[in-house]
Amino acid sequence: MEEQVDVVIREAVPQDAEGILKHTSATAIETGFMTMGEEGPGITVEEEEEQLAKLYESDNNVLLVALIDGQIIGTASIHGSSSPKLQHIGEIGIVIAKDFWGFGLGTTMMEELLLWADKNSILKRLELTVQARNKKARHLYEKLGFELEAIMPRGVKDNGEYLDVCLMSRMIGKID
Ligand SMILES: CC(C)(COP(=O)(O)OP(=O)(O)OC[C@H]1O[C@@H](n2cnc3c(N)ncnc32)[C@H](O)[C@@H]1OP(=O)(O)O)[C@@H](O)C(=O)NCCC(=O)NCCS
Repeated sequence: MEEQVDVVIREAVPQDAEGILKHTSATAIETGFMTMGEEGPGITVEEEEEQLAKLYESDNNVLLVALIDGQIIGTASIHGSSSPKLQHIGEIGIVIAKDFWGFGLGTTMMEELLLWADKNSILKRLELTVQARNKKARHLYEKLGFELEAIMPRGVKDNGEYLDVCLMSRMIGKID
């Protein structure tokens, strides 16, 4: 019999700082797909708390967390710049703990991000970078309307190997 688990998805608050850092450090070394590696996030819980508070108040940033029994198992974010010339661009990031891959959580979290972005009047362009070899993530982004803009040769170096990185984007909202 399949086990049913309840997953809660909500916006992150400063009290999530420790759980987010734990999740980020653990997932950074689970695959070679993350830009971060064994060095980890390199910030303290207090610094993360401050960042989360700022992010929560920002109009073009959002961080969603997915939790099972209070434990963070996924994060998905849109990061927008404070620069007036760049604030319409939101950079997407998503990472689910490996034990929970393949259950549709990545799709659900991306859909939640897109719903949030569609209601946002500042963001006009969503973009992300993904390793060319990360077929699952590329499939997920394509499924949700992201298009390949460019392939960046030697876009990342993992385990001594230079790898291609894809730049993908999706336009949102209307331009006056
Ligand atoms: C990429 C990631 C977010 C996907 O999350 P997930 O919860 O496993 O994704 P889902 O279960 O919602 O969907 C996975 C989709 O990929 C498909 N897929 C799985 N393996 C695949 C493969 N090797 N090639 C192509 N598609 C694949 C699945 O069939 C599914 O598509 P469908 O809904 O059309 O059937 C997750 O694997 C992850 O966090 N990876 C590590 C971090 C990462 O790579 N982040 C992105 C960096 S830019």
